[in-house]
Amino acid sequence: MKKVLFVASEGVPFIKTGGLADVVGSLPKCLDKEYFDVRVMIPRYTCMKQEMQEKLSYVTHFYMDFNWHEEYVGILTAEVDGVKYYLIDNEHYFGGFKPYGDNVLFEIEKYAYFSKAALSALPLIDFQPDIVHCHDWQTGLIPVYMKERFRGNPFFWNMKSIMTIHNLKFQGKWDVKAVKNITGLPDYYFTPDKLEAYKDANLLKGGLVYADAITTVSDTYAEEIKTEFYGEGLNGLMIARAGDLRGIVNGIDYEEFNPATDKYIEFPYDAVNFRKEKVKNKRALQKQLNLAQDDKKMMIGVVSRLTDQKGFDLIAYIMDELCQDDIQLVVLGTGEERYENMFRHFDWKYADKVSANIYYSEDLSHKIYASCDAFLMPSLFEPCGLSQLMALRYGTVPIVRETGGLKDTVLPYNEYENTGTGFSFANYNAHEMLRSIRYAEQIYYDRKREWNKIVDRGMAADFSWHVSAGKYQEMYDWLIGY
Ligand code: ADP
Ligand code: GLC
Repeated sequence: MKKVLFVASEGVPFIKTGGLADVVGSLPKCLDKEYFDVRVMIPRYTCMKQEMQEKLSYVTHFYMDFNWHEEYVGILTAEVDGVKYYLIDNEHYFGGFKPYGDNVLFEIEKYAYFSKAALSALPLIDFQPDIVHCHDWQTGLIPVYMKERFRGNPFFWNMKSIMTIHNLKFQGKWDVKAVKNITGLPDYYFTPDKLEAYKDANLLKGGLVYADAITTVSDTYAEEIKTEFYGEGLNGLMIARAGDLRGIVNGIDYEEFNPATDKYIEFPYDAVNFRKEKVKNKRALQKQLNLAQDDKKMMIGVVSRLTDQKGFDLIAYIMDELCQDDIQLVVLGTGEERYENMFRHFDWKYADKVSANIYYSEDLSHKIYASCDAFLMPSLFEPCGLSQLMALRYGTVPIVRETGGLKDTVLPYNEYENTGTGFSFANYNAHEMLRSIRYAEQIYYDRKREWNKIVDRGMAADFSWHVSAGKYQEMYDWLIGY
């Protein structure tokens, strides 16, 4: 049996702020249990849902030498859908109201602690993984520590590491002196060929330099990050490690996201009966959100972190123009204040057309995927994107910018060849986006049969983990060496 440990800062169903949690919560379930023993390690945030806290049981605890003192490390465990989770418990670091805070230095200290605790815990829980699979900057120190202090212990000698980039924008950067102090790593590691980047210490860079293999979450993003525009200052390193870097597109949990069985939606439907049944969800949502009640109105959904990454400056730019069209816009998201307020403003200005829901809700997100006709995601960059996959699964036609995973998963509609699962545009330009939206409106209103065929093709596309899990397995086999 090959053993793999996922280490990440979030994972469904314990804690989620974005797509990383969906991936960490769904991929391990889909790896072949006959050959792989995959376990997951995440922090035990005290802001986790009570219902999940109650599932945890105590394993052990110890004190770890960290940041010039002895720090408590508790280990809790729970099993979810046949996958064993370990949660690292420490109230000082994981006690806030939300998983991530605004104080960068504290975040760095927190995840340096988590990274060291994750490795230190392994001999105590008697799990000796062949591969430690790390996700994003929060776990960037793990491959470094594995080649440094943990190397002295034979327990770690044959362990390999993988670094998966879900978002290169977040790197965990701070000044070298402070990071040296916190991590206890010697001077040797803080040079531009190792943890240092542009004079700062950079945790993700450490992971990318020291990991045995690197992956990211789509083929296109794997190429994009070798360029200056998408490389976030690390494009040189991505080029240098190109031989060890591959893109494996994300999947979604086809059981959790299934319009035929979804417990959040009132009117279940599938690829056969969506023409009649899906609209009932739209009707219900219009009522719930106080929008004009009209089955025929094209409803466009947005479920997203409200940040620059997601292209909201494009939407802000044409919002007034878009609201002149015969559409409804339903937004669910939180994030930058200027975008939150922008949507609140248009909700006030066009009350029966725009609904701004500035909060986090699993329930409403599923209702939006199920009820809308189209789903808008005009990202500036998008490593993979899961929302468009959820939209496709629910027969909601994505309108996206051709970047990263959006480009790899949404096929642009071609009216001459009768192909395509969505609408897309290439340049980061508000009116180019508006043209795509209006093209979609035109097909929706004037050529409904064509529209429904786009839905048919989207619902038939397979973005379960099936294929991608196989690719991870191949990589694990290759790294382990048999
Ligand atoms: P990212 O990870 O960059 O935020 P993804 O598209 O990969 O983008 O994943 C976003 C995930 O977070 C999806 O599951 C989406 O439904 C969910 N999500 C985003 N904002 C909200 C919200 N306000 N309420 C509920 N779910 C949300
Ligand atoms: C990141 C990316 C998103 C991706 C997700 C899961 O949050 O922004 O594109 O889908 O990670 O890999």
